[in-house]
Amino acid sequence: MRAAGRRTSVLKSGVKRLLGRAGFDIVRSTNNLGGVDDFLPFEATVQAARAAGLSVGDYIDEVMNGTPGATQSTIDELRVLGVFAANPNTALEIGPGSGRYLEKTLKECSPDRYEIYETAAPWANYLVDTFNVVAQPTAGCSLAPTPDGSIDLVQAHKVFNTVTFLYASRYFFEMARVTRPGGRIVFDVMTETCLDPAAVRAWATQGGAGHDSYPAAMPRRTCVDLFATLGCSLEAGFLAPMGVASTEVLVFRKVA
Ligand SMILES: C[S@@+](CC[C@H](N)C(=O)[O-])C[C@H]1O[C@@H](n2cnc3c(N)ncnc32)[C@H](O)[C@@H]1O
Repeated sequence: MRAAGRRTSVLKSGVKRLLGRAGFDIVRSTNNLGGVDDFLPFEATVQAARAAGLSVGDYIDEVMNGTPGATQSTIDELRVLGVFAANPNTALEIGPGSGRYLEKTLKECSPDRYEIYETAAPWANYLVDTFNVVAQPTAGCSLAPTPDGSIDLVQAHKVFNTVTFLYASRYFFEMARVTRPGGRIVFDVMTETCLDPAAVRAWATQGGAGHDSYPAAMPRRTCVDLFATLGCSLEAGFLAPMGVASTEVLVFRKVA
């Protein structure tokens, strides 16, 4: 076992050296308790986007993922559902990463305060500098610095399919706590709606490379029932592309 562990670590550092030579600076989350590892090289991505004349978000969609318009299509769905029409004055995003949803959210509405909880420090710093958002201390799955009932729009995209069940569910309680009555909670999870046999086969045969904890599934019913007990009712759900299949975006309104 120990020899195997040493071999894995030698292999990992070899890969890092090679990628380093190729100009990629692999960034490890500063607090990687959620199991997301080495997800996106900061410097290399920002430089490549600049060279392509694209925003970082559009560069990731168009060039890295080969899915132009993917982020925008989720934002368009949220607009149609009226998520931005209420002009949220305070927003909070968990795991914004490169900021591709954050950037497009700020084109739809102009909150006075936009808090982020992001474990990858280089990306969090970049988002603070670029979009004037507030980076909160991020230690796992707590939103403790944010007061109860203080946020109009709470969102997380492509985060809860990369962390463990416990991290996602602890964040769910926190999301409901910080949302003000009438506010919206938007996040995606890989529910049973996304997991027909063809999708399971696609993930099993082509998916998941590089992240042990990705993609993590979460039952839809679990989310709907849990949020109902927290005073949040499901308004809508729609599918969005993710990896080799899809994820389900759920939109809740905090009623009480
Ligand atoms: C797959 S990326 C998605 C990034 C972005 N939302 C997007 O869709 O482009 C997951 C993000 O969640 C962040 N993350 C991982 N664990 C986290 C945690 N426990 N709390 C907050 N953010 C976390 C990662 O650093 C990364 O930025």
